[in-house]
Amino acid sequence: MEKIVIEGKRPLSGEVKISGSKNSALPIMAATLLTDGPCVLENVPRLRDTLTMAKILKSLGKAVDFSGNTLKISSKNGLNPVADYDLVSTMRGSFCVLGPLLAKLGHAKVSLPGGCVIGVRPVDLHLKGLRALGAKIEIEGGYIVTHTKGLKGAQIYLGGVFGSSVLATDNIMMAAVLAKGETIIESAACEPEVEDLGNFLNSMGAKITGHGTPKITIKGVKELHGANYSITSDRIEAATFVLLAAATKSPITVTNANYSQLLVLVDKLEEYGAKIRVKDGAIDIKTPRKGKPVSVTTYPYPGFPTDIQAQFMALMALTPGVSVITDKVFPDRYMHIPELNRMGANIRREGNNAIVEGTPRLFGAPVMASDLRASAALVIAGLAAEGVTEIHRAYHIDRGYENLDQKLIALGAKIRRENE
Ligand code: EPZ
Repeated sequence: MEKIVIEGKRPLSGEVKISGSKNSALPIMAATLLTDGPCVLENVPRLRDTLTMAKILKSLGKAVDFSGNTLKISSKNGLNPVADYDLVSTMRGSFCVLGPLLAKLGHAKVSLPGGCVIGVRPVDLHLKGLRALGAKIEIEGGYIVTHTKGLKGAQIYLGGVFGSSVLATDNIMMAAVLAKGETIIESAACEPEVEDLGNFLNSMGAKITGHGTPKITIKGVKELHGANYSITSDRIEAATFVLLAAATKSPITVTNANYSQLLVLVDKLEEYGAKIRVKDGAIDIKTPRKGKPVSVTTYPYPGFPTDIQAQFMALMALTPGVSVITDKVFPDRYMHIPELNRMGANIRREGNNAIVEGTPRLFGAPVMASDLRASAALVIAGLAAEGVTEIHRAYHIDRGYENLDQKLIALGAKIRRENE
């Protein structure tokens, strides 16, 4: 395994171009299972999770050619209906092959995703939605085994105890596009990645309206044709670099980002005292010498994203004063707290609140990456800290950030990889 070694406190500046969205690419790749026609996807980020999803599509019978950021996906012979454990368990996002496989084949066997460090990852909403469409579902040996005589449109309320579910909305939308009749999803997830999936499905001939809002209407069609599509840019990567600029007080311009998807972060950073300017799609961040502590609570989109909670905590750890960070989406998503504290941060948990007593300085230390976004928080802290930080289990970062090391080196960071 590799570790990332960062020499902190180096002056950073320049431009960083944001890649395609991982969380948009994964369900869109799964959606190609719905057609026998060829699909060409552009602006696909080349990272562990999209490479894993490409492997899964191949195991399901698709021909997949992934070169650069272009993915060509076509059919060979029929589809294999079984998505096995050793691939699905490495990436929970692959559970979104369930809906398309069931819609296309009328049956599917997909491994339950299992839990991970950020939470239990239940799938009750996925199963509730598929049953409402007429699927029979059993759980056998850690697998979801499902079949149907033909999916029928239904009105489905998909809100859960933690609010809407992104991948459950994706799974049900993909199952409903080939169902007989009309499906309405109430309390659907509104994330831009769900909207992107709906746009891709419509480019394949689906009839979807309301995607990106809490109410999605899908009129079932007989079949879908192949399509070419360009993936939207990654709002979480963009937010990560904006927070990195603020935490290191660096003049960094973020390009190829979708400013309108970052409004809640801009709102919080203006409260912190930063000045955010947008000029022809490029986002400039001016950071105050002394920022103000800001409290945040995460919610489903358009609320403050759980996927930048850890990165925001790294900024608050460096902001003298007290801020409270609460994750309402994944209440246990705090594995980064003890690692930030090893670097001199002063953060404590009280229930599912993190109380951050900011300090002017952090110090380099060996730390452990735990999940993708916690690792990003440790990179931000390492760049801002005095001394050398070693982030062990660097593969977590490579799951969701394309060419992160190169992007940081281009900004002036001193960062390298070593074997652990
Ligand atoms: C997606 O995961 C993202 N992953 C996650 O990003 C992101 O953190 C999450 O949405 C929330 O925005 C992908 O898009 C591949 P959810 P997903 O279902 O869909 C509960 C990253 O770092 N829930 O929206 O699996 C669930 O436990 C990853 O890129 C149920 O209760 O998340 C959570 O508390 C991490 N029942 C809440 O809903 C269900 O059936 C939101 O989860 C499903 C979910």
